[in-house]
Amino acid sequence: MKIRKLNKKEKIPMDLLLLADPSEKMIHNYLKQGVCFVGELDGQIIGVFVLSQQEPNIVEIMNIAVDEDYQGKGIGKQLIHHAIKSAKEEAYQTIEIGTGNSSIGQLTLYQKCGFRIVGIDRDFFVRNYPEPIYENGIHCRDMIRLVKEL
Ligand code: COA
Repeated sequence: MKIRKLNKKEKIPMDLLLLADPSEKMIHNYLKQGVCFVGELDGQIIGVFVLSQQEPNIVEIMNIAVDEDYQGKGIGKQLIHHAIKSAKEEAYQTIEIGTGNSSIGQLTLYQKCGFRIVGIDRDFFVRNYPEPIYENGIHCRDMIRLVKEL
């Protein structure tokens, strides 16, 4: 898989981004200041992540998604490692990510990639999303914040 920055003139892979975030409005908001990276296999975009600066030395992975046909094959892990590498190259000191309290697989993946839980933004998803979100039979209400020092 080749991982590269999405060219400003290219179409945004919205279908993929929506797998990670049901709000197109939120996605457009963080794409305004973020950098979108795509993972490509044989010319097909199969993965995406968005990096956005939060503070001068802190960057956040705002969205990460892998095409459903390619999930569970190590691609998400490759994308996270690329995000970490890019953040280091840009001299950031910390990389952050947030996920739902119901996102069990994502919490596994991020911790396997060296992220540690640092906090909980209680009711983030209740405040910011009009429709209730359910995953793994759990109401997604709180955002679990994870951080990796670079
Ligand atoms: N339960 C337990 N472990 C899980 C898991 C689950 N549901 N999902 C992933 N993992 C683990 C894998 O076992 C693997 O560990 P290993 O390398 O030790 O075998 C590791 O996480 C990496 O898995 P990988 O195959 O790279 O994940 P992926 O390519 O499926 O990508 C996502 C992970 C989350 C990006 C992908 O599933 C996805 O796009 N989901 C929908 C969008 C989304 O939820 N994005 C994140 C929003 S916070």
